[in-house]
Parts: sequence; C-alpha cells; structure tokens
Amino acid sequence: MHIPVLTIDGPSGAGKGTISRIVAKKLDWNYLDSGSFYRSLAIALLQRNADLSNESEILQIAQAIELAFECNDELIVKLNGKDITAQLGTEATGNVASIVAAIPEVRQVLLQKQKDFKKPPGLVADGRDMGTIVFPDADIKVFLTASAAERAERRYKQLMGKGIDVSIRRITREIEERDCRDKGRKTAPLVQAEDAFYIDSSAMTIEAVIDQVLSLVPQRLAM
Ligand code: DC
Repeated sequence: MHIPVLTIDGPSGAGKGTISRIVAKKLDWNYLDSGSFYRSLAIALLQRNADLSNESEILQIAQAIELAFECNDELIVKLNGKDITAQLGTEATGNVASIVAAIPEVRQVLLQKQKDFKKPPGLVADGRDMGTIVFPDADIKVFLTASAAERAERRYKQLMGKGIDVSIRRITREIEERDCRDKGRKTAPLVQAEDAFYIDSSAMTIEAVIDQVLSLVPQRLAM
C-alpha cells in the first residue's frame, strides 16, 4: 500500500512548523517534527550538563529517544512518555540541537526513528533533510524559506509575545550562525532537493503558504 509523504524543509524560522502542522491536520495525515528529535537530545544533554565533545555519551542518549507527537490545537511532544513541549522552543535548546545534529552517527541513529513515522493515511514531515535523506521518494517536496531578516523579526515577535526580552541583533546573529552550521555540515546539510517546490514566505501570509502547499497535493498524488 502506498503511503503518501509530503516533506517541508527549510532554514530555522521559515514557518515550517506552523505550516506543516496545519497542513497535516487539514489532510488528516500524521506529522513528524524532525527538529524535535535533535531538540529533545539537546534537552537531555543540557539536563545532564553533558560534555558536548563526548560523542559516545551523546550517541547513547540518542539511542534511547522515543518521541510521540500529539497534534491538537497546540503540538504536544512527549519524550519517553514525558511532556517536554515547554523546553523544546528555547534558544539554548535550538543551538545545542544544531551542534549535535552535525554529528553523522547521531543522524544515523535518529534516521530509522524518523522513517517509522511513515504510516497510513500519509505523512507530513518537517525538517532540513526530509526530502533529501529521510524520505527521498516523497510524493511532494517543498523547500520553504524566508529572508534572514524576516525570520529574525518573526522569532523576535514570538519571544516578546511570550514575555521573553531579547535583542533583535542577537536573534539575527543566532539565526545566521545556525543557518551556517546547518548548511555547512558534511552530513545531510540543509539543501533544497532537486525536485522540491521553492516557496519564499517573506512577503506571504501563513494562509497563503498553506493554500500553495495544499494546492500541490492533489496534482502530485494523481501523477
Ligand atoms: O527545525 P528546528 O529549529 O526545530 O531544528 C533544530 C535544529 O535541529 C536545527 O538547527 C538543525 C537540526 N535539524 C536537523 O539537522 N535536521 C532536521 N531534519 C531537523 C532539524
């Protein structure tokens, strides 16, 4: 039985999470937030105050990761049964996630765990290497991006809205550093798949991006 897969890759802050969750809900498909794997590993490492240069310890923790996503109004992420949603979105988590994501063995350990999310009736997978490495045969691939300035502005508003006081310059610098690390790493770098549809959301509303992504689904599945 063919299980359709829609991949949405792109840099941090391009809106992949929001768009992917809504699209998965509209299609009634499963959802994989692959960044949560790297982020939950980061949380486990930060909790243990682990040495980030100790690859064998990092690998051991990565092997034990079991994630589950509950997509209601908000996304709930459970790591080995425990709700870790609140810790997932912090800048510290994102930065450590980006560092450990550059370790090839870590990516290898997390690969099958991500592939296992492909279940009927379909899957929307969001990340950096969904269309290139994890699901190269996906039916529909999207590369969603926005300018670094626009992504920093969105992140800034999001954090200020949560009452977290941050500087826009620091956010911009961190976004640029993370882009550089994610694009520059040797294993599974952030790159647009050859057969992906390119969407620049800098001047688009969330609704417009969702409409564009959904418009790709029926035509591609009929092919
Ligand atoms: O999408 P995100 O911001 O939650 O991802 C956090 C980090 O995890 C990101 O900087 C790079 C890494 N990541 C990755 O390497 N591959 C993925 N498929 C998803 C995320």
